[in-house]
Amino acid sequence: MTQHTRAKSDASTPEEFRPSGQIQFGVFFQGVNSGTIWKAPESGSQTDFESFRRIAQTAERGLFAAFFLGEGLRLREHLGRPHALDVVGRPDAQTMLAALASVTTNIGLVATQNTTYNDPADLAHRLASLDLISGGRAAWNIVTTDNAWTGANFRRGGYLDHADRYKHAEAFVETAKRIWDSWDTPDGPGRRVRHEGQHYTVDVAPRLPRSAQYRPVLFQAGDSPEGRNFAARQADVIFSAHPKFDDAVAFRKDLVERSVAAGRGANAVQIMPASEFILARTSAEAAEKKEWVRSLQIGPQQAVAYLEQFWGRQLSAYDPDGPLPEIDPVVEETSETRGSGFHGAKARQLADQWRAEAKDKGLSIRQFVTSKTARIDSTFTGSYTAVADQLAEYARVGAVDGFNISPWLIPTGLDDIVNHLVPELQERGVYPTEYRGATLRDHLGLETPVRTADVAVAAVRT
Ligand SMILES: Cc1cc2nc3c(=O)[nH]c(=O)nc-3n(C[C@H](O)[C@H](O)[C@H](O)COP(=O)(O)O)c2cc1C
Repeated sequence: MTQHTRAKSDASTPEEFRPSGQIQFGVFFQGVNSGTIWKAPESGSQTDFESFRRIAQTAERGLFAAFFLGEGLRLREHLGRPHALDVVGRPDAQTMLAALASVTTNIGLVATQNTTYNDPADLAHRLASLDLISGGRAAWNIVTTDNAWTGANFRRGGYLDHADRYKHAEAFVETAKRIWDSWDTPDGPGRRVRHEGQHYTVDVAPRLPRSAQYRPVLFQAGDSPEGRNFAARQADVIFSAHPKFDDAVAFRKDLVERSVAAGRGANAVQIMPASEFILARTSAEAAEKKEWVRSLQIGPQQAVAYLEQFWGRQLSAYDPDGPLPEIDPVVEETSETRGSGFHGAKARQLADQWRAEAKDKGLSIRQFVTSKTARIDSTFTGSYTAVADQLAEYARVGAVDGFNISPWLIPTGLDDIVNHLVPELQERGVYPTEYRGATLRDHLGLETPVRTADVAVAAVRT
């Protein structure tokens, strides 16, 4: 199935997992969320190229391997309208990354693109285009996208349940790889790729040559067993949701087992969890800064709006500094169609549980919502030196290969990391002191894919 991925281990001498001893950074610039603060006077706008340019160039100054854009194909809604407290709207990821390619030199450019609502020949061409014009710096963060509500924007409608989404994703990615592989076969510049599947057909001759890194690097984001197996078979890097040390070690173990079982060896897939860093000179200052960051992330309006998503009704009459509402949710108004991924069936049960929890801990609406929403599990808070020591330990045991960092403030949210944390990590010998090469594959230390012997297999059926 994955003939054209990186070199495989010899089955007779199973390869052990070898920590690289290094940490890489990526910046995860989200589309819609409440965690990124755009309220500072210098923040600018989420539709302004300047905001993206500044973050990407800061990351490049810090030798970050990659600049990531998440992608949502429909805005989150709140009580039937676009959620005005979110970062509403953002230019298309690949368009933005193409523009960023011209104002950066080294940093990798990762476009999140889903396999459920795209078509493989078209997407393969667009990603190959980004890879070529950026000089071999493109990557595709493969997601399947988890709601039928997004599907309402597409001709196919809200199709595909969870298991089918991954089957479809696998055929999709295999097809894209075959298209990229099909250029420059031994008997000509390109061979036709055909695919006839349940959801799409492909009959295409390759339109572009290979890039400087052969083809786009493949990231994957999805955490279910099916998602992890898919990553083990197909991805170069997994964008995980497991940054905390013990959890990260357990996730590594799980992924190593899956990639060995998939025949790709223990070192086939790198791991970069989502994370947030709140840093200062001392740990006391960092703790204070965290309070400030959280107060900006969850203001009074955000706190009430958050609860409204789960209550399915207006709660503006409730005091954000008072207790959780006694009133019950309107179950039929609380469904995942608002983009929160919340299934309304358990709304009453959840409300009871939250009221009890908040009462027990003596938390107001705002305090409770802050505790629920803050990226507590993905946040590293502390002095530059303490956090550098912590990350050095991740590198030593190989818990992760790097971190995909969400900046909490635009455009200065990476400054502490680049100016203070990176030098500390370099001193500890766990962070690059220069870009290793020209391509994203070089930065990550990934081998060039081995092209499948026969890319022009006439047709694959799913
Ligand atoms: C760290 C992470 C980041 C993700 N980013 C996106 C994104 O930007 N756009 C998107 O449509 N889905 C995104 N997803 C969701 C995946 O598309 C997928 O639908 C979801 O995780 C369900 O798959 P799973 O059950 O395998 O986790 C992300 C998932 C994870 C774990």
